[in-house]
Amino acid sequence: MLVSKPPMGWNTWNTFGEKINEDLIKETADVLVEKGLDKFGYKYVVIDDCWALRERDKDGKITADPVKFPHGIKALAAYLHEKGLKLGMYSCAGNMTCAGYPASFNHEFTDAETFAEWGVDFLKYDFCYLPKTVSGKYLFRRMGLALLNSGRDILFSGCSWGADNTKDWIKTTSASMWRCTGDIFDNWESLKSIITLRADFDAVNSVGSYADMDMLIVGMNGKGNVGLNKGCTEEEYRTHINVWTFMGSPLMVGADLRTLDDKSLKLLTNKELIAIDQDSMSCQPFDLYSSSDFMQKARILDNGDIAVLLCNLSDTDRGTWFDLSSLSLEQSGDLDVTVTDVWTNETRGFVNQCFSTFVKAHESKVYRIKLKKK
Ligand code: GAL
Repeated sequence: MLVSKPPMGWNTWNTFGEKINEDLIKETADVLVEKGLDKFGYKYVVIDDCWALRERDKDGKITADPVKFPHGIKALAAYLHEKGLKLGMYSCAGNMTCAGYPASFNHEFTDAETFAEWGVDFLKYDFCYLPKTVSGKYLFRRMGLALLNSGRDILFSGCSWGADNTKDWIKTTSASMWRCTGDIFDNWESLKSIITLRADFDAVNSVGSYADMDMLIVGMNGKGNVGLNKGCTEEEYRTHINVWTFMGSPLMVGADLRTLDDKSLKLLTNKELIAIDQDSMSCQPFDLYSSSDFMQKARILDNGDIAVLLCNLSDTDRGTWFDLSSLSLEQSGDLDVTVTDVWTNETRGFVNQCFSTFVKAHESKVYRIKLKKK
C-alpha cells in the first residue's frame, strides 16, 4: 500500500498497556473528533498489544477478547469509519506477542484475511519471540505479502526497533513505516537517546517508507504504561514534537485524549510543524553543525522553503548561530532570506550572512526559511 505522508493517529500502548477495551477506543475516537485532531491529520486509532484471547479458536483464527471487546472488532471498525477515522490493530512476527498473546508466525495469511474481514486499516507488526529458524526479515516480507493479498488496503507498520539492521532490509518488506529505535519512555533520557540514535536513519527515511521514532509522550505527564515519575517539562515535550516533526516521523499520540490538557493539545496541533512533518518530498536532512549534544539540521521542503532545527540536548544553555553558506546560499546577493520561528511567528533576516539565537538546555527551535529573489 503506497502511503505518501507519515501516518498520524493515536495508539493505546503508551498510556494504557494491557488496560484496553471497546469503551476506551470509542471514547477516544469521540474526543479525537471533538477536539478536532482529525482535521490536523490524526486519523488512525490503533489498538496495540493485549486485545486478543490467549488461544486461537478451533479453526486457528485469532479472536478478540470478548470481555474487552464485547461487540467485536468489526463493529468497532464500523464505529470509527462512521467518524471518518481508521482502525489499526497489532500483531507480532513471532510465536507470541511481546506481552504473551497469540502472534502471527505461521498464521500470516489467515490473520491478514481476518483483519481484512474486520475492516482493519493498519497493522503494527512487532518482533518478539521470533522462531529460531526463520529470520525476522523473511517474516516481515511474509506479512507484507499477506496484507497485500488480503483484498483490503492495510497499512503495514513494522516494529522491529531497528534490530538486525532493519534499515538494510525494511524496504524489501513493503512496510510503509518502521520503528527505527527502541521503546520510548516518558522522560528526558529516553527522548535524548531516541533523538541521538535517529541520526543514523536520515538517509533511509523516505516517501512511502517512514522511519518511526515511536509513539508520542506529549501530554502523558508521567502517567500511564510508559510513564515515569513526572514525565517531561513542557519545553522537553516541545523538543519532542519539534524533532519528530522535523524528521518527518509518523505521529501517533500516546496520551489519554480524554484528559489531555490545553498545553499538550497546542503542542500536538501546531499547523506549521505538522506541515513540515507531512512535507510531500521527505527530503533528507543535512547538518549545519552537529555535536553529540547540540544538533543543527536543515531540510529542503517541497515548496522551496527550508526547515531548520536547532536542538540543545545538553544540560547547559547555549548561544548559537548558523550562516548562509551552511544552507548553500553563501553570497547569494540576489536573495532576501527570512527566518520565521514556527512557535512565536517572529520573522528575522540574516545579519552579515549569520543568524544567531539562544537555545536553553533541553530546548529546541524550528524555523521555516523563505527565499525571495530581490
Ligand atoms: C514493543 C513495542 C511497543 C509495544 C509493545 C507491546 O515491542 O515496541 O511499542 O507495541 O511491544 O507489547
